[in-house]
Amino acid sequence: MTEQIRTPQGEKYPALLRILHWLRAVLILGLIACGWYMTGRAEHDPVAGFLYPGHKQFGLLAWLLALVHLVLRWRHQATLPTTPAALKPLEKLLSHGIHRLIIALTLLTPMLGYAMSSSLTDGDGVPFFFLSHVPEILPKNDEAFAAFQMLHRYSAYILLLCIALHIAGTVKHRLQDRNGETDVLPRML
Ligand code: HEM
Repeated sequence: MTEQIRTPQGEKYPALLRILHWLRAVLILGLIACGWYMTGRAEHDPVAGFLYPGHKQFGLLAWLLALVHLVLRWRHQATLPTTPAALKPLEKLLSHGIHRLIIALTLLTPMLGYAMSSSLTDGDGVPFFFLSHVPEILPKNDEAFAAFQMLHRYSAYILLLCIALHIAGTVKHRLQDRNGETDVLPRML
C-alpha cells in the first residue's frame, strides 16, 4: 500500500495511518483520564481495582500501536503528505518538534509504566488480554519503582500537553485558513 490518495483539498494520509491516528488518540486520552482517576481513589477501592489491570493492558496496546505506526510511517515515507510550504519557519519548527515529542512519549510512557509495575516488590503483575502475566524482566526494587512512578507520571502529563498543543495548532489553521494549504485536518479525515 504505497499509493498517494488525492482529494479536492490535496493529499491524504493512507487509510491505515488515519485509522491508527484516531484510534491511538482515543486510547491515549482514555489512558490519561483513567490513570488520573484511578490514582485519585482510595487504596482498596473496587473501581480502582478494576481500572488498574485495564490501564496496564491498554497501555501496552498503546505501545504496540505506536510501534506499528512507526513502521507504517517508515514504509510509506516516500508518499506521505509533506509539510505545507506556507507555514512560517517557527510554525514548522513547532509542528515538527511537537510531532516528534508525541511519537517519543507514546513509546516512552508505556515503557515507564511497564518498568514501574514490574519493579514493585508486591505488585500485581502486568496482564495483557490473553496473557495473565507479561514476563517482568526488571529486578524487584521499590526505590526503582518510585523513580519509574514519577517518570511515568511526568511523561504522561507532558504527552497530554503536547497533544493539547497539537490540537491547538490544528484548530488555529482550520479557523484561519479553512481548506487552504495550512489547514491540514482534512488530510487526516
Ligand atoms: C500511553 C500509555 C500510557 C499512558 C498515557 C499512561 C498514563 C498514566 C497516567 C496519566 C497516570 C496517572 C499518574 C498520576 O497522576 O499519578 C498513570 C498511572 C499509572 N500507570 Fe499508566 N499510562 C500508560 C501506560 C501504562 C502501562 C503500559 C502501564 C503498566 C504496564 C501503566 C501503569 C500505570 C500504573 C500502575 C499507574 C498508577 C501509578 C500509581 O499508583 O501511582 N501505565 N498512567
